[in-house]
Amino acid sequence: SRSRTFAMIKPEALIHSGAIISRIYEENFVICQIKKVQLTRADAANFYDEHKGKPFFGELLDYLTSGPVIALELMGEDCVKKWRACLGPTNSLKAKQDAPNSIRAIYGTDGTKNACHGSDSPSSSARELEFFFGPHSPKPKAEFK
Ligand code: CMP
Repeated sequence: SRSRTFAMIKPEALIHSGAIISRIYEENFVICQIKKVQLTRADAANFYDEHKGKPFFGELLDYLTSGPVIALELMGEDCVKKWRACLGPTNSLKAKQDAPNSIRAIYGTDGTKNACHGSDSPSSSARELEFFFGPHSPKPKAEFK
């Protein structure tokens, strides 16, 4: 049935955001909300709280704060699962092997720099949408002041 998920275009893939957003429409998702945000280290640590303590956590925070990200609320049929399928395996090197047409295969680099995020379950999509679009969410990045 129709549901929502959270998607994020990560810093190194921002240059490909036009192609990635075209792909999102080609896959028949609806973009309900979209915003560009520069995450602080604290924002990134809170968002990826479940990975705190893992060996790659520091590298993940460096990566996620290296430039702005684009946060999206997607809607569609069986959205959480379908967006994860479009992304392919977490590690872009594995994606290039096993799912060459996936977003991570095309736009990602390695195990950390994997182009895009997608919520892994309906409960994490609710949490992540609240994190990025709820009342206490990080403010949109102003390009021109
Ligand atoms: P994502 O699906 O957004 O969720 C956690 C992120 O941590 C993941 O994408 C990668 O960017 C990164 N990550 C996950 N596993 C590893 C790993 N083994 N080594 C380095 N980075 C990882």
